Amino acid sequence: MRDKAALITGGSGGIGRAIAIKLSEMGFNIAISYLNNEEAAREVIAEVEKNNVKGLSIKADVSKEEDVKRIIETVNKEIGNIDVLVNNAGITRDRLLLRMKTEDWDTVMNTNLKGVYLCTKAVIRSMMKKKYGKIVNVTSVVGISGNAGQSNYSASKAGIIGFTKSMAKELGNRGINVNAVAPGFIDTAMTNVLDEEIKDEMLSSIPLNRVGKPEDVANLVAYLCSNEADYITGQVIHVDGGMLI
Ligand code: NAI
Repeated sequence: MRDKAALITGGSGGIGRAIAIKLSEMGFNIAISYLNNEEAAREVIAEVEKNNVKGLSIKADVSKEEDVKRIIETVNKEIGNIDVLVNNAGITRDRLLLRMKTEDWDTVMNTNLKGVYLCTKAVIRSMMKKKYGKIVNVTSVVGISGNAGQSNYSASKAGIIGFTKSMAKELGNRGINVNAVAPGFIDTAMTNVLDEEIKDEMLSSIPLNRVGKPEDVANLVAYLCSNEADYITGQVIHVDGGMLI
């Protein structure tokens, strides 16, 4: 994958970091976007560059159209046209619906779902020209199962699944593969904030009997971004230790 460029949104976080490093091992030049943890972003780029590829980090909000435009322009200029887009940026604002503020609903939908729409729209023109592109969207098992206290989050993740399948149909004849990965319970900052009781309950529902590592997700994303997955599109692949079966 030398001389190909991959953009990972939310690349400073647990799963995004692992994806950035794994794709750099495959030879991709790497751009990550992040919301505010500059230190973490810098550390990811230092890791990526150890694999003799170009690394670039951009502070930007994926829910804002002008920010997304800036991300794409900067990546195109610094490391080349984007061949791989991993829509990974995501947040939670968990609350039972009766107590949910409209602001919590909007922030989650705008980051998790509108962000995927904006980033995808911004990269596909150049992918269509090249007749090559891999787009991987990070959804969640709760986008399939639903979850009490996560109506906003699970709606955004279910939306990503519909978007993924629609894009696979729209872009398939342009040489672009669009898939989604659905992680279960992965050990990152997002899940560290959960109560021990909830963590234990989730763990007890995982047949493989362990919490997932960011690398478990990154391995699947890497496969979907490789030429070995050229005949796979429109799929939602679970990486959840069997949590949802
Ligand atoms: P994390 O909290 O460690 O990282 C989140 C990343 O998203 C950070 O880089 C942050 O800067 C970025 N981000 C947040 N809001 C943003 C915005 N408005 N614009 C740009 N970037 C923004 O979380 P984690 O666990 O690494 O999550 C990554 C993805 O995986 C998310 O989409 C999450 O929903 C999904 N996921 C995580 C699971 C888990 O158990 N950790 C399970 C299922 C899905």
